[in-house]
Parts: sequence; C-alpha cells; structure tokens
Amino acid sequence: MLKVGNTVNFTPLICAIMTTEEREIEFQAKIDNGQKIEPKEWMPENYRKQLIRMISQHAHSEIVGMLPEGNWISRAPSLRRKAVLLAKVQDEAGHGLYLYSAAETLGIDRQTLTDQLLTGKAKYSSIFNYPTLSWADIGAIGWLVDGAAIVNQTMLARGSYGPYSRAMVRICKEESFHNRQGYEIMYELANGTEAQKQMAQDALNRWWGPSIQMLGPSDAASINSSETMKWNIKVESNDVVRQRFIDRTVPQAIAAGLTIPDPDLKYNDETEHWEIGPVDWNEFYRVIKGHGPCNKKRLSDRQRAEKEGEWVREAAIAYAEKQNKKMNSIAA
Ligand code: ACO
Repeated sequence: MLKVGNTVNFTPLICAIMTTEEREIEFQAKIDNGQKIEPKEWMPENYRKQLIRMISQHAHSEIVGMLPEGNWISRAPSLRRKAVLLAKVQDEAGHGLYLYSAAETLGIDRQTLTDQLLTGKAKYSSIFNYPTLSWADIGAIGWLVDGAAIVNQTMLARGSYGPYSRAMVRICKEESFHNRQGYEIMYELANGTEAQKQMAQDALNRWWGPSIQMLGPSDAASINSSETMKWNIKVESNDVVRQRFIDRTVPQAIAAGLTIPDPDLKYNDETEHWEIGPVDWNEFYRVIKGHGPCNKKRLSDRQRAEKEGEWVREAAIAYAEKQNKKMNSIAA
C-alpha cells in the first residue's frame, strides 16, 4: 500500500492479490478494447515470448536484408541510382536498430539476440536467401519484397504492443519510398530496350513466388496465429495480408507491361480479388530450414562482419567509458 499525499493508493495491493487467471482476463480486456500494452505493464509470459520471437526475427531480417542489396551499390548504373540504393540500405540498418530496441524493452539484450542470429538459432525472412543476379533484381526487391513488407507492416502498426507498433509507423513511411524506387527501376526497364524488358521479366519470374511465400505459411498451417492474433500482435492473418499484396501488385505489373509468372492467375469478378495458382510451400519450408540458395552465405557474411567489427565496438565502448569518467569528474 502506498501513501500518496493524503490519499492511500490500493492499486499495488490489489495487483498483488490478483491471481494469474484474473490478470490474464484483465490483460485480454485491454487488448480487446484496443489499448496498447507498454513495456512495464504486466503481460502473460507467452505474449512476451511471442513478441521477442517476432520482433527479433524481424530485426534480423532487416540486417540480413542489407546483404543482397549492398552487393549492388558499387554496380548501380548511375550516380543517382547509387545514392538512392545507398540511402535505402542505410534505412534498413536503421530499421534493424529500432526493432532490436523494441525487443530490448521486453527484457532481452541485443547481444543475446545477435548471438541467436549468428549461431543459426534465430530465423530471419526466407526472402533474403535468394541471390541478386542482375540490376533488375534490385528493382524487384524494392517493388515486391518491400511491397509485401509494407502490407504486412501497416497491419503490424495496428498491433497491441506499443514500442513495436510505433516502430512500424516510421518504418512503413521509409518502406514506401523503397517500394517506389523499386517499382520505378522495374517500370523503366520494362519500358526500355528488349534486353532490359527481358531482364525485368526474368527478375519478376524469380522473385514472385518467394515474395508470395515470405508473408508466412497459409492460415491452416500457421502455428503461431492463434496466439499472435488473440493478442492482436498480428491483427490480420497471413492469407488476408497475402491477398492484399496480390491485389495491389498485379495491376502494377500490368501497368508496367510485365507478366506475373502464374498461368492460373485470374480476376474473380464476384469477389473482386486476383486468384493465384498453388503456392510452392515445399520451397518455403526448404528455405526456412536452411537449404535456400544463399542461407550459408548470408550467415557466414554476418559472422564475418561481427568478427571484423569487434575492434570498432571495443573502441566505441572504451570511448564511452572515457567520456563518462570525464563527465563524472566535472560533476564531482
Ligand atoms: N521467413 C522465415 N520464417 C518464416 C517466414 C518467413 N517468410 N514466415 C513464417 N516463418 C516462420 C515463423 O517465424 C514460424 O516459425 P517459428 O515458430 O519457429 O518462429 C513459422 O514459420 C510458422 O509461421 P507462423 O505461425 O505463421 O508465424 P507468425 O504468426 O509469426 O507469422 C509472419 C509469420 C507473418 C512473418 C510474422 O512473424 C510477422 O509478421 N513478422 C514480422 C515481419 C517480418 O519479420 N518481416 C520480415 C521481412 S522484413 C523486410 O522485408 C525488410
């Protein structure tokens, strides 16, 4: 019991005598009322675990996702394209930082998360295990991969955990710019020479399937959805988000003069949705189990970067300690 001024605050006492079941009911009522959950509030242990799992996978995806694009900065076809791609890759690093910080509010530190990535214990998005073979692949990543990410993340921005949902708002703004730069690259190639058009079509052929898959397994196979949706961590299911991505992307392909590589693709006048053929879920599971075209390279590149950056981290810590000592001696 706390005495605040002349009034007595019974809240800590009430919380102390609530059972876990009562707390869970109160927590669920907050979620159902659309209230945000903030770091120091009580939360079920599995809510915390689900968030750490999802946010850290997301953070790792942003960091690993820099690799296939970083590979093209020095080869981008003009100074303008280099500058734009450089800025985009830097944005992705920033997204990783916001997301690691959001995960840290749940009581896990960044080094532990990094170790989980480097030892292969943590997942990152399947999509970043594919190679970037031509300049058009950079267009396809911005248009399709960032396009899918935006549809997923505008949904996550409505999620229940305050720090994660707020990070999504800023990330989505930046992703919109990434998406447009990608579509612009594809549109220009598709309307350029015959060879450029073929390059754009080839990139679309290779990235379409993995982009459909990256939005997660079908609802029937999604093991985490019952919890992540009960707690509004995800406010829409994988299939709903996937359909929105398809509906928004097919007309863009048509406008650019490109063909979606799916012979079963058709528009349903009644539902007003584009319908696709079967998704290759075998490929998806192969990739997330570590057997995609670039899984080994992505992981070894991150491990090498961690090792090579060790002296920079040590120097930064030593400098911060020195500055702290200086500030403390001025204050004393
Ligand atoms: N790549 C790798 N693993 C995936 C992918 C994917 N594209 N999609 C799903 N999985 C994994 C899940 O992590 C889960 O594995 P786990 O239980 O070992 O963690 C398993 O497949 C089953 O999936 P679901 O039960 O459907 O998982 P969930 O409810 O978390 O939904 C989703 C998956 C939609 C990807 C969700 O985690 C999410 O929205 N994550 C945040 C966004 C994100 O990580 N985006 C990455 C790309 S960011 C970018 O493009 C820069």
